Amino acid sequence: MSEPSKNPLSNDTNSSLNKGTTATSTNPINNENSLVNTLLPVDSNGEEATGVKGQVNQLIHQAMANNPYFAAGGGLMILGSGLALARTGMIRLSRVIYRQMIVDLEIQSKDKSYSWFLTWMGNYPRRISKHLSVRTNYLKHDNGAISTKFSLVPGVGNHWLFYKGAIISIKRERSGRMIDLVNSSPYETVKLTTLYRDRHLFNEILEEAKTIALKSNEGKTVIYTSFGPEWRKFGQPKAKRALPSVVLDKGIKATIIDDVHEFMNNGKWYSDRGIPYRRGYLLYGPPGSGKTSFIQALAGELDYNICILNLSEQNLTDDRLNHLMNNMPERSVLLLEDIDAAFKSRKTTNGEPGQTNYNTSVTFSGLLNALDGVTSSEETITFMTTNHPEKLDPAIMRPGRVDYKIFIGDATAYQAERMFMKFYPGEKTICNQFVEKFRSLDTPVSTAQLQGLFIMNKDRPLDALKNIGTLTESQHYHYSGSHS
Ligand SMILES: Nc1ncnc2c1ncn2[C@@H]1O[C@H](COP(=O)(O)OP(=O)(O)OP(=O)(O)O)[C@@H](O)[C@H]1O
Ligand SMILES: [Mg+2]
Repeated sequence: MSEPSKNPLSNDTNSSLNKGTTATSTNPINNENSLVNTLLPVDSNGEEATGVKGQVNQLIHQAMANNPYFAAGGGLMILGSGLALARTGMIRLSRVIYRQMIVDLEIQSKDKSYSWFLTWMGNYPRRISKHLSVRTNYLKHDNGAISTKFSLVPGVGNHWLFYKGAIISIKRERSGRMIDLVNSSPYETVKLTTLYRDRHLFNEILEEAKTIALKSNEGKTVIYTSFGPEWRKFGQPKAKRALPSVVLDKGIKATIIDDVHEFMNNGKWYSDRGIPYRRGYLLYGPPGSGKTSFIQALAGELDYNICILNLSEQNLTDDRLNHLMNNMPERSVLLLEDIDAAFKSRKTTNGEPGQTNYNTSVTFSGLLNALDGVTSSEETITFMTTNHPEKLDPAIMRPGRVDYKIFIGDATAYQAERMFMKFYPGEKTICNQFVEKFRSLDTPVSTAQLQGLFIMNKDRPLDALKNIGTLTESQHYHYSGSHS
């Protein structure tokens, strides 16, 4: 580069123009220079540019000097355009600075953290809000009493917040054009804006809001049911059902709980092998044996919420099932009740004469697709129940759909004893007599029936013993399913 004239490749016209000194070049191609030299007045040092500039400068100088109006106008022009340039420059600069220094965070109303944030902000003391809106909550206490609680949350408009030394501007907006078709409420967003250096506070706020929201459900199990295509809380969160309150036959509870724990502690094993992280349990057996109660208690034990879907529910289509299963609230187990309903409808679609089924539109393949298709990054625990295992297609038993099948049967002597002792603590002698009589009953009795007898004879263990015969009189569904 330093010696372009020695390099034939770089000896194009440009380089020779730029470097006037190429007149000394030994390369014959540089003969072109003679032409260039005649066109431009090049001085011996090759400073042709200063020559032109010098002449123009001289001209301007002369004009200025000889014409005062021209001189003044020119001055003004330069000053004016200079100011204009400075102004646009300033605007651009401030935009760049704004962009560099300001961050914002948008939370959409369909996001879970939306209501968490509003609640958090409603309770946050160091804020300026002139627009509030009210949220009314009914609170059902454990003794059944209901109280109403109003909470004021930031309404639509602008608000300010002082949080850990930072100022955060909050803007809650409602879209006039877009409507959420699910609950026919307008789409809303909350936008938080703050300085770039304080951006980590967004995370802190969201974490705080989440912790508060989850804390209000501590010790409770939130039950979700389907409402159209979305999950809705079913009533107020219920106090957890204690696991010991559900009495299953010897060892069954421990086996299931161990399996669930084992599954939950092995997320890495699944991801290392590229296997979807899910596990399905099928609880089958006669009605009133404690299947649903056990799953609810187990969810409470795991500190999970529970999403219940009844497959025999009207209007539940394959699409809705699939959508619901793929959009579960966080930390919840899925409970699919009466899954045999999906198999009933398959028979119908196959055209069994005389059997019309108005109850369900979930199909067998719809259920399988939904089970296979659940793509959650979190673990997915699905419990399924049925009173009619004989109606299920073997295809449901594939790993990933049903990994574990458990029979929950009618009351055994073991369960009768345990339940008796729970209802009448300390009454060991009567309990033994009760169990003796229970063994000699000739019809199967469900645990729900036992519970019924003990409730009827509350605090009167002798009456429960005396009336044990009524168990065989009360209606009990005749269970036709197999045991294995
Ligand atoms: N094993 C049990 N231990 C304690 N309570 C039980 C048990 N089985 C049934 N119950 C009581 O009986 C009632 C009905 O039980 P649950 O709904 O759990 O039965 P289920 O097996 O789900 O019945 P279905 O098959 O009809 O859905 C509940 O009030 C529950 O507390
Ligand atoms: Mg049930």
